[in-house]
Amino acid sequence: GRTYHDDMARILWSPDDITARCRVLGRQIANDYKSKAPLVLGVLKGSFMFASDLVRCIEPCPRGLTLDFIRASSYGSGTESSGDVKLKTDLKKEKVQGRHVLLVEDIVDTALTITTVSRYLLEECGAASVATATLLDKHERRKLAYSPEYVGFVCPNEFVVGYGLDFDEEYRTLPYIGVLKPECYAHLGIPGPEPVGSGESGDE
Ligand code: PRP
Ligand code: MN
Ligand code: MG
Repeated sequence: GRTYHDDMARILWSPDDITARCRVLGRQIANDYKSKAPLVLGVLKGSFMFASDLVRCIEPCPRGLTLDFIRASSYGSGTESSGDVKLKTDLKKEKVQGRHVLLVEDIVDTALTITTVSRYLLEECGAASVATATLLDKHERRKLAYSPEYVGFVCPNEFVVGYGLDFDEEYRTLPYIGVLKPECYAHLGIPGPEPVGSGESGDE
């Protein structure tokens, strides 16, 4: 039968490409945080796979590094961010206070999500600092200015899925990042990615 693989127009980054970037970023993070053990905070659900691979590459791992997760979502089943980012967490504010937080994301697109999470940690929880490691940076689509400190790959303005990124909850488990065939979302009446500034292009 038809599989998720058949829905890919092309593969952008293979498992090997991703592993190689994780190693480079992990070493940079270990070096930058050697004297300030970070609270690594994965932004669910999209970051689950990248967070899992990246933390293994934070080498040598500083003593005191801890790992937690926060749930943030705005896309729902649509393809365009609703602009209303919902946070869900059982993280105690005292566990964040004074900590150097390293957010882990699968993708920074409009930057609404990362900005909301980052503000929450700094303003509500009293984090000492917040930095972001994102596998993909789709900077063409920014609505808010945001420059992640650690970027795996600069992402073209195309409909990407896999390695944590979903389209309506599908494709998350693929071990690579691929571009979805337009026919896979045509039934929703969604136009494909358009030039920068149109504000109407699709997303995961
Ligand atoms: C996706 C993605 C990022 C965010 C990026 O999450 O995982 O968290 O959108 O988009 P932005 O920069 O425009 O805010 P989504 O809301 O789809 O939730 P999910 O992680 O559970 O898939
Ligand atoms: Mn997400
Ligand atoms: Mg999503």
